[in-house]
Amino acid sequence: MRVLGISGSLRKGSYNTALLRAAVGLMPDGATLEAESIKGIPLYDGDLEAAQGIPPAVQALKDKIVAADGLLLVTPEYNNGIPGVFKNAIDWLSRPAAEIPQVFGDRAVALVGASPGGFGTILSQNAWLPVLRTLGTRPWFGAKLMVSRANKAFDADGVLVDDAMRMLLRDYLAGFVRFVAESKRTSTP
Ligand SMILES: Cc1cc2nc3c(=O)[nH]c(=O)nc-3n(C[C@H](O)[C@H](O)[C@H](O)COP(=O)(O)O)c2cc1C
Repeated sequence: MRVLGISGSLRKGSYNTALLRAAVGLMPDGATLEAESIKGIPLYDGDLEAAQGIPPAVQALKDKIVAADGLLLVTPEYNNGIPGVFKNAIDWLSRPAAEIPQVFGDRAVALVGASPGGFGTILSQNAWLPVLRTLGTRPWFGAKLMVSRANKAFDADGVLVDDAMRMLLRDYLAGFVRFVAESKRTSTP
């Protein structure tokens, strides 16, 4: 069972990348989580796509999504919505549109996020829902996980030191992995 996780922040000290790193170490037995980033993905430009096709960084991430059983999006929140850089990456990953079913169709997807604010990333997680629906994914709604006050939940090295949150994250991942396993059973003829 392989899950691919993508952090939606480019920042070296990103709480969301730190959350993804923590998740890697809290996966249930029999499942792995590979941490990926959106680094190197250019701004979407239809002229660039027409002239040069899908950029290598986008194609590499697309291939990893296709090879994975489930997808974990680790999203920051900007202005109560999806950060442009993360949405841009997903927009590129949805090109060409004819490949959306292969990349995203029926794919089990979960959303988590971290913010120094008091509400975690609840509004950006909500803002992802129409995108996940449009791409035909199979989102998991069995639990929600938002890390609020992330500046306290992580230490200066980006280690998740909030034990209660570690337990919540571990349970969240176990629930998602069960969902991914169930999705595989029902989508395999
Ligand atoms: C342009 C911008 C808008 C932001 N808007 C929000 C917001 O609406 N809600 C929130 O909780 N945090 C907001 N923040 C703070 C981010 O949650 C914070 O910068 C966080 O560290 C970003 O995630 P990262 O640590 O993974 O890079 C915003 C930050 C930026 C740069």
